[in-house]
Amino acid sequence: MRIAVIGGGNLGSALAKALVKKFDVTVTRRNPKEIEFLKDLGCEVTKDNVEAVKRANVVLITVKKSQINEILEEIPKDRITVSFVAGVKFDQLERTLEKPVKAMTMISAEFGKGFSIYHSKLGDEDNDVVERILSCFGDVMRGDERDVDNLTAFASSLAFIPKIYEALVYSGLRLGYGHEVAKKIALHVLEGGVEMLKSYEPNEIVEKVVTPGGTTIEGLYKLMENRVDFGIMDAISACAKKLERI
Ligand SMILES: NC(=O)c1ccc[n+]([C@@H]2O[C@H](COP(=O)([O-])OP(=O)(O)OC[C@H]3O[C@@H](n4cnc5c(N)ncnc54)[C@H](OP(=O)(O)O)[C@@H]3O)[C@@H](O)[C@H]2O)c1
Repeated sequence: MRIAVIGGGNLGSALAKALVKKFDVTVTRRNPKEIEFLKDLGCEVTKDNVEAVKRANVVLITVKKSQINEILEEIPKDRITVSFVAGVKFDQLERTLEKPVKAMTMISAEFGKGFSIYHSKLGDEDNDVVERILSCFGDVMRGDERDVDNLTAFASSLAFIPKIYEALVYSGLRLGYGHEVAKKIALHVLEGGVEMLKSYEPNEIVEKVVTPGGTTIEGLYKLMENRVDFGIMDAISACAKKLERI
């Protein structure tokens, strides 16, 4: 099966890297020199959208909202076409395509660590094809259009993780560790935290780490005083509100 990824930018390149391990992949962008590196991984790279979609069984669209209209015109109506473009309505896709799918995923799809939600009105056979493709990016869920839109806001929180990482590294530096050691410890804190969350509830982890009257509870007190949990929820709400305006 050949998949055409239209728009080899940040997301398109990430998806292509995951897909090429299982499928034939063509990636397009107007300036294909920028994605020459994808050729080394086995992808075809071109600026010719029409040729790319003609040869593909399935088309993925990963351009910005302002760029999608001209691309929809170039896609044969009968192709299964999955749009990851934030802010584009399902009925807009339905106006030009017979087999549209509206989906959202995360940039960590590159490593098979994304979570994807898709909405479609396709039959079981076509949905199976869509799920086979999306499963290259990590876990997959089928939902309604609102589920897809909500993931756009929720998954934006991936961009918060580097901020948390940086704050951890700076804290390590304040304590006197060298840069490399501080980075290594910060990554272990994040990786270790995720691994623990797969096996224990948050309160169980806190019980395991916090010694009554010890050091960690002082840090937790400061986090609560600074309303970090509220800040994160407020930030995700801001992403959701912005999505309504783009
Ligand atoms: N980045 C993320 O983490 C992420 C996650 C989920 C969803 N998304 C969605 O994915 C979409 C793309 O986001 P992005 O961050 O990847 O943006 P981006 O890096 O700007 O990628 C868009 C790419 O589309 C290409 N393009 C524009 N017009 C084209 C055309 N007519 N034919 C072929 N290629 C064309 C551009 O390259 P040229 O200028 O060279 O053509 C550009 O590389 C957005 O709608 C966003 O909402 C992004």
